[in-house]
Amino acid sequence: IRSEALGAVSQAADLAALDAARVAALGKKGSITGLMKTLGGMAPDQRREFGARVNQLKGEIEAALEARKSDLSASALAAKLGNEKIDISLPARPEAQGTLHPIGQVMDELAAIFGEMGFTWAEGPDIEDDWHNFTALNIPPDHPARQMQDTFYLPSRPDGTPMVLRTHTSPVQARTMLDKGVQKMLADGGSLRIIVPGRTFRIDNDATHTPMFHQVEGLVIDRTTHMGHLKGCLVDFCRAFFEIDDLPLRFRPSYFPFTEPSAEVDIGCSWKGGELKIGAGDSWLEILGSGMVHPNVIANCGLDPAVYQGFAFGMGIDRIAMLKYGIPDLRDFFESDLRWLRHYGFSA
Ligand code: PHE
Repeated sequence: IRSEALGAVSQAADLAALDAARVAALGKKGSITGLMKTLGGMAPDQRREFGARVNQLKGEIEAALEARKSDLSASALAAKLGNEKIDISLPARPEAQGTLHPIGQVMDELAAIFGEMGFTWAEGPDIEDDWHNFTALNIPPDHPARQMQDTFYLPSRPDGTPMVLRTHTSPVQARTMLDKGVQKMLADGGSLRIIVPGRTFRIDNDATHTPMFHQVEGLVIDRTTHMGHLKGCLVDFCRAFFEIDDLPLRFRPSYFPFTEPSAEVDIGCSWKGGELKIGAGDSWLEILGSGMVHPNVIANCGLDPAVYQGFAFGMGIDRIAMLKYGIPDLRDFFESDLRWLRHYGFSA
């Protein structure tokens, strides 16, 4: 009985076979249980002696069952680990990846180009007070230019200051010139060169105008910068941005209250079969406004116009993005359509 029971335990190939061996020895009808049952008919002396031996055998079998069980579980675990090996050389499953919005991409591109020319990136608030958006820029309260820009007016501040959504990035010109650190830097003989990419707002809404759009402002102030610098700077920028070395530019006299003289800048283009092509051609496309900062603006911002001068420009970012990347409809920029974003977006 002993060798049979222990043999069944040691030969059990899996946990199910081991349980069968346990039942065969220790179950209700098991061999050891059968031996126990014979004890009742024995003489007390014999029972004591035989009972002790049966108990010892039972303990031996239980220990063997326990040992075999832990062996089998260990090898079952090892087998499982062996089978479930992962192949780390398999390519990863593709994960959805975001893209840079064309507006952000173009902001980065123009910041890189102007960065090489010594301009740094400045910002100002989208919600602006009437003074910075208009008055500081030589557009007094009754000036007709206030009607030219379809302004979103906001509730006034508690102190009565009229507030607007900025209609252009030009208020950041004023904010920057008014900055004490900037004024000190200029007084020390330095020169101010900033670009201001950001959101702007006007009431228009059609295929070529959205109520929210983007501009980049440029501002240079020092003691010597003149119109020739303005021209050179914008020619270099446009050729670098559109990646056309001989891109023709046309500087057309214009009017802005905050610049004098003022010029609008057109780039050469042509229409072939209804498609626009940027580059030397028979047509012109307006892309920006510019000029020498008006002395009144310099004075409004706490600088002496007899000492300081410079130029400024403002350009629609959405517009130059459409031109460079062949994006047909302005409104699509702001629809957040994932198919459109995947098509026109840039991987980081
Ligand atoms: N602020 C002008 C606009 O929104 C553009 C501009 C900026 C013109 C700076 C001249 C100088 O149209």
